[in-house]
Amino acid sequence: MSTMAIATRRIDSDQYRAVMRHLPTGVAALCSTDPDTGARNGMIVGTFASLSMDPALVTFSVTHTSSSWPKIAQAGRFSVSLLAEEQQQVCRALSAKVEDKLSAVDWSESSWGNPHIKGSLAWFDCTVEQQILAGDHLIIVAKVLEMTAGEGAPLIFHGGRFGSFTESRPTPF
Ligand SMILES: Cc1cc2nc3c(=O)[nH]c(=O)nc-3n(C[C@H](O)[C@H](O)[C@H](O)COP(=O)(O)O)c2cc1C
Repeated sequence: MSTMAIATRRIDSDQYRAVMRHLPTGVAALCSTDPDTGARNGMIVGTFASLSMDPALVTFSVTHTSSSWPKIAQAGRFSVSLLAEEQQQVCRALSAKVEDKLSAVDWSESSWGNPHIKGSLAWFDCTVEQQILAGDHLIIVAKVLEMTAGEGAPLIFHGGRFGSFTESRPTPF
């Protein structure tokens, strides 16, 4: 196959999904409070990652069809709760396309006015620093205003299923 053929071959979305499902991800809940109405908004991302230590930045990507992200971005500030192993139900509630997703989960308000999901592993309060258009997603770069660690095991999404982390026995050299 020529280099040109490789460069121009289109990857269809089924193939993309079939390959990417092998990548395990953590599960993070983004939540905000509308400054005008007080309405709470939320969504789930599996793309949350650390980006920069100094300054403290985090990143994730959101699909251009998300109806929740524009509301979260509009609020200016938002929180990230890293979900724990036993929070599958929180993931289901916040990834549904319904109004008032936060009514189904237990949360408390942070000093920045954002909902923090109770029982999570870590919480961040952030502001949106950059939104970069990339294909059918936006790459979000967010500045961390405050971050706190809880404890527990992570919720992990892999191959369309939920699980957690199990330490392997060390491989002998
Ligand atoms: C495990 C998991 C990971 C997800 N990761 C992302 C993500 O990284 N980016 C994204 O835009 N949507 C992601 N979603 C989908 C959204 O959470 C959610 O389904 C969608 O935002 C709901 O629609 P709405 O934004 O219109 O409310 C994920 C859903 C699940 C269950």
